[in-house]
Amino acid sequence: EIYLSGVGGARPELPMTAAGLEELASTTLSPEAFAYIAGSASSERTAAANLAAFERHAIVPRMLRGTAAPDARDLSVEVLGTRLAAPVLTAPVGVLELVHENAELAVGEAADELGIGSVLSTASSTPIEQVGAVSGENWWYQLYWPSDDEVAQSLVRRAEAAGAKAIVLTADTPGMGWRPRDLELGHLPFLQGKGIANYLTDPVFRSRLPGAPEDSAEAMQMAVLTWVSMFGNHTLRPADVTRLREWTDLPIAVKGIVHPDDARAVVDAGAAGVVVSNHGGRQVDGAIAALDALAPVAAAVGDHADVLLDSGIRCGADVLTALALGADAVLYGRPWVYGLGLAGKAGAKHALRILLADFDLTLGLAGFAGVAEIDTSALRAVSG
Ligand code: FNR
Repeated sequence: EIYLSGVGGARPELPMTAAGLEELASTTLSPEAFAYIAGSASSERTAAANLAAFERHAIVPRMLRGTAAPDARDLSVEVLGTRLAAPVLTAPVGVLELVHENAELAVGEAADELGIGSVLSTASSTPIEQVGAVSGENWWYQLYWPSDDEVAQSLVRRAEAAGAKAIVLTADTPGMGWRPRDLELGHLPFLQGKGIANYLTDPVFRSRLPGAPEDSAEAMQMAVLTWVSMFGNHTLRPADVTRLREWTDLPIAVKGIVHPDDARAVVDAGAAGVVVSNHGGRQVDGAIAALDALAPVAAAVGDHADVLLDSGIRCGADVLTALALGADAVLYGRPWVYGLGLAGKAGAKHALRILLADFDLTLGLAGFAGVAEIDTSALRAVSG
C-alpha cells in the first residue's frame, strides 16, 4: 500500500525512516521538547551503543524457499496473553503533552487501528480511563511504583478497571537518570507538574494532599511537591512482584532487566514477562546495550516467561534481529514520538506503519513465511 501510493510519483509528507523523522523533529519541535525526547543519560554512549549493537548481527537471507505470498505472511504473535497482528507495541513514554495535545489518545488509537499493542505510561498526560476508552483491547499499563503503596495499588486497580491487559513494572527508574540536555535548557518537565494526570485524578493520591484540593496555582504546586516526594522508590525487590500479583489478575512484565539473574528472580517471583531494556540509555550511562543483554536473559527465563526488548529498535531488520535473539516482541520508542510531534495521530501512525511495512518485507525477502520461523540461524555475528 505504501509502495503503491508512490505510483503516481507522489512524495510522502513525512520521512520514510526513523532517522529522517528524528532529523525533521530536531528542526520542527521546540528545543525543550526535542531535548526531552532525544536526550539520554550523561555521555549518551549507552544510547549510541543500543543502535550500534544491531550492526554486529547480520541477517543471512534464504532463497527459493517457496515462502508465503505477502498477504499470507503471518506476523501475528501472542505475548502475555495478548494477541497482536505484529510483534510490536508502542513503548511507554511519559509527559507527552510536551509533544502533542491528547497524545496518549492519538497513540492508543493509532496502535489499535494497526492491530498492534500500546503501553500507557504512568507519567501520561491524560488519565488512564480516557486512554483506555479509545485504545481497544491490546493495551498494557506501565507502572512507576511510587513509594506510597496505596497510591500504587490504586493506579493498578484503575488500569485493570479501564481495560489494561497487562501491567509493566518499570524497574530501572527508582529515580531519574542524569540528563544533561534537559539540565542545560533548565527544563525539567517532571518538576513542572507535567505528566502527572494520573495522580491528579487519583482519589488516594488526592487524599494525601494537605488541605482540600482546589484549582489554584498554590494547590497545583502542593500536588507537584507531594508527587515528587513519592516518585522515587528505591525499596523495591523481586518479592514486590509477588505482592503486585495479589493486587491484580493481570499478567506482569518487569521492564528494565538486563542481567540474567534479575530476570530469573522476577520470573521466580511471578512475573510472566521481562522487558530487556535500558530505558533508551536514559538511566545508567555506560550500561550494556539492550540487544547485547537479550540472548542471556532469554536463555535464563527459557519457557517460563515472555521476553520483550526495547532500546534501539529503528527499522524492520532490528525487529527481525531481536526476534532471532530470543524476543517474542519489541517495544518501539522514540521514532513514533517524533512522528506524533510532527503530525499528531497521523504522524505517530505513519512512524508505526513504516516500521511494520519494513519488517514485513524484510521478513519475507529473508525467506520466512512468518515470525514463528525466526530463530538464531537467521543471523551471523559480524565484527562491528
Ligand atoms: C521513555 N521511557 C519510559 N519508560 C517507562 O517505563 N515509562 C515512561 O514514562 C517512559 N518515558 C519515556 C519518555 C521518553 C521521552 C523516552 C525517549 C523514553 C523509555 C521507553 O519506554 C523505552 O524504554 C525507550 O524509549 C527505548 O529506547 P528507544 O528505542 O526509544 O531509543
